[in-house]
Amino acid sequence: MEMLRKAREYENITKTKADPDRPSFHLTPATGWCNDPNGFSVYKDDYHLFYQYYPYDIIWGPMHWGHVKTNDFISWDYLPAAMAPDQDYDKKGCFSGSALELDDGRHLLAYTGCYTGEQTAIDGSYYQHQCIAIGDGLNYKKMDCNPVISADLLPDEYSNLDFRDPKIIKKNDSYSIIIGARRKDNSGHSVLLFESKDLQKWTFASELISSDDKLGRLWECPDYFEIDGNDLLLFSSQLAYKNQDIRETLALLGKYDDNQKKFKITSEIPLDYGTDFYAPQTIKSLDGRRIMIGWMQNWASVDYKLTGKNFFGQMGFPRELYFKDNLLCQSPVQEIEQYYGDRIYFDNLKIKEPVFFENIEGRYYDMEVTIHFDKDPCNTSIKLRQNEDSYFQLYFDSDRLLLSGNRSKAGIPSEYKNQTEIPVNLVNNSIKLRFIVDRYSIEVFVNDGQQVASYLIDSKGEKIQFEAEKECGFDIDFHKLIRKESETL
Ligand code: FRU
Repeated sequence: MEMLRKAREYENITKTKADPDRPSFHLTPATGWCNDPNGFSVYKDDYHLFYQYYPYDIIWGPMHWGHVKTNDFISWDYLPAAMAPDQDYDKKGCFSGSALELDDGRHLLAYTGCYTGEQTAIDGSYYQHQCIAIGDGLNYKKMDCNPVISADLLPDEYSNLDFRDPKIIKKNDSYSIIIGARRKDNSGHSVLLFESKDLQKWTFASELISSDDKLGRLWECPDYFEIDGNDLLLFSSQLAYKNQDIRETLALLGKYDDNQKKFKITSEIPLDYGTDFYAPQTIKSLDGRRIMIGWMQNWASVDYKLTGKNFFGQMGFPRELYFKDNLLCQSPVQEIEQYYGDRIYFDNLKIKEPVFFENIEGRYYDMEVTIHFDKDPCNTSIKLRQNEDSYFQLYFDSDRLLLSGNRSKAGIPSEYKNQTEIPVNLVNNSIKLRFIVDRYSIEVFVNDGQQVASYLIDSKGEKIQFEAEKECGFDIDFHKLIRKESETL
């Protein structure tokens, strides 16, 4: 407990130093480092979120769990750190995991404990096993019987050096945990299923899904849920980043076969086409929506730190997942409307030459732009967060039916991946683009969320420039976003 006390005391001191120029509508730690969202759950009618957290610096360090809660997914109350790596079995870090409200009113956290053991692995990696802590929404006690899923329960062909990120699910009277795992001979990656009746004694049940490298390598942070009778399995693949053909975070659509305890994949859906979206978790909200939140970052560019900031890492804007016309779609949570300030609306404005509009600008807004093509589509461009020397560009290439998001002039150095492509369909000869813009990020929702792309940026520009190769009609629906000052640090 000493380490947790120290972290909480440190938080009390540093929260007074929280940077006022942090993102306005995206969660960051008050100070220090964060990566994956953890333990996203409903507990006593509040939404709790934890995150991978190193309070003492803006680099990754021994992982703690930071803790916040919310009622609207946008304004968060900061709570004291929930866990520190203070036991022999997790002293190298409390890695990612999930949470569950128990029937008896307690809050359960399932996480990966990392340790080096007597023999450090050759490459210096940590051994991993699964642990549980139980608490009251503020304080959590790690179970005496930890680790509850040790390497002994792993089938022989799997390595306990990449065996992590338990997602716990309750079904009737029993519990399941799914975990990302790598085979020792590197022949593939799996999501493994374990089961328990009492949360203490677990057994290996099956390889829920398994693959060679076709869907990316090193599967992390699985999530599993159902929407409208469709089963979905989410995971992120850290080593996908360098491969243009594989997206880091996938939703596998399919069906769970309860007899074989296998997930049969029918299709793979990339959840984000931008540079920054990883390790999402979902919950069912109190009014029945499936809400997802991910880390708006990628591992390949964590060395780049926002200029002059004492925090690192932010969560993406929470999204609702739903099916429309049999397609998995995503939209920013509807609570965003509670933050709307002035609205400006233009209907079918004819645009060709580069143009800016008075009051359609800023660093925080929700803007929907529908571009109507006359006959054939033509190339169009929208530049956001523009000033004399910087901007983010979303360019529509009408021949290839591709949108290209480019942040290479938006403050992120050229050694990082700065441009990505998003395949699009024209709907009634138009494209609909919704932009959620905050101090350090741009998220684009294409055609009512059929595709989404998230980009971290580091520039101060505020102007928005519209341009088309041939004259097109632009509907522009612009809402300034106004922060409520209710967040408590
Ligand atoms: C994913 C991840 C997880 C791990 C955590 C460590 O981003 O690598 O697999 O639990 O980060 O911080």
